[in-house]
Amino acid sequence: MYDAVNALSRVHCGMVRKPKADGGVRFIQLPNADAVGQKAALLVADLLVKKPNAAIVFPTGSTPLPMYQALRHMTHVHWENSRLFHLDEYIPPSGTRQARYQTYAEYMNTELWDYIRADKNYIVHYTDKPADYEKKMTAHGGPDLVILGIGTNGHVAFNEPGSDEHSPTRIIELSEQTLISNFGGAGKKGYPVQAITVGLKAILKAKKILLLATGEKKREVVRHAFDPATLPSADLPASWLKKHPDVTVMTDFLV
Ligand code: GLP
Repeated sequence: MYDAVNALSRVHCGMVRKPKADGGVRFIQLPNADAVGQKAALLVADLLVKKPNAAIVFPTGSTPLPMYQALRHMTHVHWENSRLFHLDEYIPPSGTRQARYQTYAEYMNTELWDYIRADKNYIVHYTDKPADYEKKMTAHGGPDLVILGIGTNGHVAFNEPGSDEHSPTRIIELSEQTLISNFGGAGKKGYPVQAITVGLKAILKAKKILLLATGEKKREVVRHAFDPATLPSADLPASWLKKHPDVTVMTDFLV
């Protein structure tokens, strides 16, 4: 049988560092984005060995692509009893002319969900009842694992600057910086300006949080958000994660 626990100990472990002042954050530095993806995938596989009915919340973006590639190759992982959730999704713009962009549901299907059998929950089906999605996701004591990326403005999921630790799962206006990085500009006709996102309140209910950040352009924001000297604040939503007792920040750079 596939032994994810041993596989995990075989993979290059990278540098693990615990900051002095902040309890729950563990940093793992790996040589490159592929190694980050491989290690993250092994953590997921290991969780499913230990808890086949785990609830896992998955992110989108370019950062987790190597993780999904690695998971697609782990054909011995048993997903059947797992409960999977989307972290966020764009709200289609109003008006008749819609630009072509990849929805997060399409992304998740293409990268992983089309390859596996599991209980798959799409946040896009809950735009008129976000609280129901949050309730389902946090049932049984909270999700077992929430995997996150991070925006260069410090957003996690689509908890944009202005979001505090109590923010619920909701529809939110996308920030100018996000519109520029995700659609190449703010106010571009036919592109979404809103999204539905799992809120920080539900993210902080997770039993474990894994934040993935790769590439030099993420170094500054990760360093700032997880600096023990930075007080958690709505200006930098990722900084609230320091209040959680079990956060792993996996990077391909030195934080
Ligand atoms: C998007 C998503 C986030 C993601 C972030 C970073 O806006 N809403 O969930 O973590 O951007 O994306 P990337 O990994 O492509 O840098």
